[in-house]
Amino acid sequence: MRTVSTLDELRDSRLSLDGTVGLVPTMGFLHDGHLSLIRRARDECKRVVVSIFVNPTQFGPKEDLAKYPRDLERDFRLIEPFTDLVWTPAPESMYPTGYQTWVEVEAVTRPLEGAMRPGHFKGVTTVVAKLFNAVQPHKAYFGQKDAQQAAVIRRMVRDLNFPIEIVVCPTQREADGLAMSSRNVYLDTEQRKAATVLFHSLSAARELYESGERDAATVREKMKDVLASEPLAEPQYVSCADYDTLEELNEIKGKALLSMAVFIGKTRLIDNFVLG
Ligand code: PAJ
Repeated sequence: MRTVSTLDELRDSRLSLDGTVGLVPTMGFLHDGHLSLIRRARDECKRVVVSIFVNPTQFGPKEDLAKYPRDLERDFRLIEPFTDLVWTPAPESMYPTGYQTWVEVEAVTRPLEGAMRPGHFKGVTTVVAKLFNAVQPHKAYFGQKDAQQAAVIRRMVRDLNFPIEIVVCPTQREADGLAMSSRNVYLDTEQRKAATVLFHSLSAARELYESGERDAATVREKMKDVLASEPLAEPQYVSCADYDTLEELNEIKGKALLSMAVFIGKTRLIDNFVLG
């Protein structure tokens, strides 16, 4: 595994990668969710590139960029067996002084996470476009855990004609159903137990759907009821939306996304299931 940080080094190393190149963009502090993407890339591509960059432009003013967990040495050890090239760009090289160029996707960034985190997706799409331009992968791997992010990237790739196949990989979960996330380390023992309520709420809604329910409002109510049974959980939004456009549904037809953001104490957790 080669480790590079400057853009010149990255471009040099990229030139020597032959065959299909898969890129896995990450912000580091890697867990089994990230590793599942890297393993999938290893299975499908001749060469695997991982980027580790805590992207400042996707953090809001009230979200603590400085406190985002980091452990590069550990990350390198974990990805070594599956990775050809790891790129850790410096913030100054991604956003040089005077930076003023942005990639913005419109409607699909507005609801859900976009409504709660203004400017977040503008930062995500801009950095991912820059990563794509620098690495020029054939395939890029994203997690279903961040369902809206995956939908936004799919839209961006179609709209800007990136010749890149976007592969969306299933959400990796702990044994009790909690979706793996770098933020889970912020939960104390009691909060960690309470956090399974997201999974239980989504599971109850899916059961309702599987028993034939197609009224989206009824499915949303089910998710809210289960969340209300956990005193430590404070829901921010609960959604039953079209899988591609993320517009809220009246009736569930075709592929739908059940999703939610819930505060457990000060920690904001998101999770989702795909229906159909
Ligand atoms: P980060 O939060 O580090 O996540 C990197 C990738 O891992 C994302 O595609 C995310 O969806 C995926 N992932 C996280 N938890 C997962 C889980 N439990 N199961 C499966 N996949 C999971 O998402 C970002 O970084 C950034 O926004 C980025 C795309 C790198 C742009 O800065």
